[in-house]
Amino acid sequence: MNTAVTAAAAAAIVIANLFAPNLPVPLNLDIPAIVAVEKNPYAQLYYYEADKQARYEAYQALHADLSADEVVWRVNAGLDYGFYTNIEPVADVNALPLIVNKYHQLPADYVPADLAKLPSGRLATKDTCAAFNAMAADARKEGLRIYDTSSYRSYALQKRLYNGYLQRDGGNVELVDTYSARPGHSEHQTGRAIDLSGSFGSLNDFIRTPEGPWVNDNCYKYGFIVRYQQDIVPLTGYKYEPWHITYVGVEVSTAMHELGITCLEEYVVKYIDHQPSVTV
Ligand code: DAL
Ligand code: ZN
Repeated sequence: MNTAVTAAAAAAIVIANLFAPNLPVPLNLDIPAIVAVEKNPYAQLYYYEADKQARYEAYQALHADLSADEVVWRVNAGLDYGFYTNIEPVADVNALPLIVNKYHQLPADYVPADLAKLPSGRLATKDTCAAFNAMAADARKEGLRIYDTSSYRSYALQKRLYNGYLQRDGGNVELVDTYSARPGHSEHQTGRAIDLSGSFGSLNDFIRTPEGPWVNDNCYKYGFIVRYQQDIVPLTGYKYEPWHITYVGVEVSTAMHELGITCLEEYVVKYIDHQPSVTV
């Protein structure tokens, strides 16, 4: 017990009694006289960043239903800003995993240094090709066929695609932004993203093929994640793309699988930018 506090509390009662002698005297003077400071729910989290306190509060005010955890990692990832606002250049194009999204842009002239060929002849980074080959070979053993339909795309190609969709969809930017990345913002430019098709149809049919659910459940074993999952559409800003897998390395894909984290930005905030302290 803090004796200074007890003494202060006792003094306060004595003074109060001088003015109102009939006040009941508390039986237990051990009650701390310090007014309880309301705890900051965000500061309890190990990935809390004090300079973002005002943004946490503003984001929480807009999303009263979110837990402190969701508020803090989302704000840390910059997801409180509108899509394509507050755009930053990708700091390290060699990072694994690599965040390329509506807030992080690759330089127009960026081409991955280690592009290799997939069996189709399309290009992807060397590690991505190896992971795809291993996954497709294991799927094959189970009678499944996994094909790539798109992999590395240059900035110029992404620009042509995006503008083509825009023309087709009558200039509806909001609509096109839900399924195509603006140039510099596509993971395909990293050479680590592959769009898949299965034993029938094209990518839009993928989830209805036996290969779609198999990839969803097994791709982590090879270092891939399904990047635009169904439960995080408002966070990625893209509709569900069960066919789009991204190479993040086996360590990250396995950890995300085990932690039940579907959003790469969440993983990066909680396990790369910050690390939980290990208790032995
Ligand atoms: N369809 C994905 C989001 C892209 O254009 O990169
Ligand atoms: Zn894709």
